[in-house]
Amino acid sequence: MKIFITGGSGLIGQHLNVELSKSHEILTQFYKHIGNCSEFNSVRFAINDYETLSSIFKTFKPEIVIHTAAVSNADRADQLPADEVYDVNVNATQKLSELCRKHQAKLIYTSSDLVYAGYRGSYLMEESKLIPISLYAETKLMGEMKVRKTIPNHIILRVALQFGFGLNHSRSHFQFVYDELKAGRKIKLFADQFRSALSLTETARMISELITKSVSGETINFGGADRVSRYYLGKEICRVCKLDENLIEPITMEGVHAMYKVEDVSMNIDKLKQLGIVPKAFRDSVQEILTR
Ligand SMILES: NC(=O)c1ccc[n+]([C@@H]2O[C@H](COP(=O)([O-])OP(=O)(O)OC[C@H]3O[C@@H](n4cnc5c(N)ncnc54)[C@H](OP(=O)(O)O)[C@@H]3O)[C@@H](O)[C@H]2O)c1
Repeated sequence: MKIFITGGSGLIGQHLNVELSKSHEILTQFYKHIGNCSEFNSVRFAINDYETLSSIFKTFKPEIVIHTAAVSNADRADQLPADEVYDVNVNATQKLSELCRKHQAKLIYTSSDLVYAGYRGSYLMEESKLIPISLYAETKLMGEMKVRKTIPNHIILRVALQFGFGLNHSRSHFQFVYDELKAGRKIKLFADQFRSALSLTETARMISELITKSVSGETINFGGADRVSRYYLGKEICRVCKLDENLIEPITMEGVHAMYKVEDVSMNIDKLKQLGIVPKAFRDSVQEILTR
């Protein structure tokens, strides 16, 4: 298949480039960083440069578009003017949806687990209450709404917190934790925030499986097999790498006056599993990443 990946230089995008290029013809987009896009058929432009975006549909003719380009987390979004975040995360998603509809391409949109209300309990279903509490999460939810309204042939993935090693310039929180612990430095990690963390390699593998399924018009929780805190994640790194667990101090959101108190956006992934897409157990994923 011909697949156009937006955000190909990002944390997830670079892993997608590697995985999807194994069996498909890809075109991958980057902007300020090149990452591994130089190793693939790639194109550099700002996602709100709609002339260039339109031209890709005429020249490359993608059958599938995987839209990951975004102002991709709450801290980054807070540092930018709100209209700029809106333009990248909402307007560009709208435009891309229109182009996909016009050119009969399927759109896979990477939304976020942070669109859910984080205080309603664990293992949230796709129909659970949505209350995004940051500008970032709000614009990801608005992106979802644009996709749903504009292009019937879509899949919206509510992507969980990613872990694992980023390629090239990309850095994950997991990498920071690993580097600090490896250097014998003390770190503080939240013990009272829970997510269905999913490894970067699993994300790429599972998207690669998903595109072969005849599923459309669906919103799907795209998370890992287990509900974990960052504290637990740190302890797993220590267990696998035989590092000192006492370097990790468990902290709470109240204790440090966290800006966005998202207690629990762990997700029920039955819908994903019913499609035959099954993530590895969290411990197996951590083991795989650290012993590769
Ligand atoms: N990482 C997570 O834990 C996580 C969790 C849930 C959902 N998600 C979602 O997954 C997607 C990918 O996340 P990520 O962690 O891979 O993000 P990332 O590492 O920050 O990468 C973002 C990508 O978007 C591109 N981009 C940003 N602004 C752009 C603009 N104005 N024009 C063109 N390209 C632009 C970046 O290009 P350059 O760097 O080249 O400028 C980069 O390729 C996002 O939609 C995010 O909301 C991520």
